[in-house]
Amino acid sequence: MAGSRSATGQHVRRLVAITAASAGEQNFLGARWVPVVLAATPQRLRTDAALRLLALSPHYFAPGQRIRHSEAERNRQTRQVLADEVLARYLHPDDDVLDVGCGPGYLAAAVAPRVHSVTAVDVSRGVLACARILNPAPNLEYRTVDEFTRTQRDVDVVYSFAVVQHLTDEVFARALRDWHAALRPGGLLILHVVVDDPQWRTEAQWRADRGLVGRVKFRFGLNCFGRTAEQVRGLAAAAGFGELELVPMATVVDVDDDVARQHLLLARRMDVALSGDALAHGKRAAGSVPAQPRTRPVPGGPAAEQADPAELSPT
Ligand SMILES: C[S@@+](CC[C@H](N)C(=O)[O-])C[C@H]1O[C@@H](n2cnc3c(N)ncnc32)[C@H](O)[C@@H]1O
Repeated sequence: MAGSRSATGQHVRRLVAITAASAGEQNFLGARWVPVVLAATPQRLRTDAALRLLALSPHYFAPGQRIRHSEAERNRQTRQVLADEVLARYLHPDDDVLDVGCGPGYLAAAVAPRVHSVTAVDVSRGVLACARILNPAPNLEYRTVDEFTRTQRDVDVVYSFAVVQHLTDEVFARALRDWHAALRPGGLLILHVVVDDPQWRTEAQWRADRGLVGRVKFRFGLNCFGRTAEQVRGLAAAAGFGELELVPMATVVDVDDDVARQHLLLARRMDVALSGDALAHGKRAAGSVPAQPRTRPVPGGPAAEQADPAELSPT
């Protein structure tokens, strides 16, 4: 009895801490005090403080000192595998890339040595502060999504892992349009997605759940939505992406992570008008202009050089 009371007490304390560290819906660790506390923490204690804070968000590690450190190590290793065996197929040393929903930055740091620059963005200021401590690199910048948008910087590749399933259709559709705008013509979008998995409730099913637990989870918990392949293709096409390929992750990589059982969406920024029918089927309209090859500035030159059209299939 005393044990269950103390377990309940722990649960309540954790919930209070999670709520205090959040900044509104689905922005865990976004509270303004999180970066302030980290900045005030002595240098030698910062790594542990960052991991402790990450354990307050349902996105990252479980609480408990040993679990926290082993989870962080597992994260580092799996993100290194994803960078080496998945993303490396599509990246070039002179690419500028955008990592969306970077979280603690393990993937961004693994990608950084392979490219010219990485801008890693997240909605949460707190997680970005943790990422700057845990995963710095000379060519890697951490920014909020809004800060990145204000820079109007463009990139060759946008990628995102373990993020899209947390977005409502409305937020996902807006994000796709933003990524399209951030990509240079012909630029590549690489998204980890969860599709056609009956174990995942769809957004419509969550919204239809009028029970108290369902409503509280939807409103305050970490949102996780399943989608069909058709929906994902349709949303990407509607945002102006084409050459869509949906690939089972297991055909590309063997990694100790949930993503191994899920999919990879590869899509290219198309600068063409799409017909309504093509949008509905996630295809480019017949007779439309082919995708632009990437354009890269010539160092010291006034015009842009046209590079080889990059193939979507791994090289
Ligand atoms: C599970 S973590 C994934 C971290 C990292 N991509 C990885 O694979 O290790 C999901 C991250 O997405 C961020 N996120 C959620 N909604 C977002 C949005 N609309 N735009 C950018 N980031 C978002 C969360 O704050 C969180 O840090």
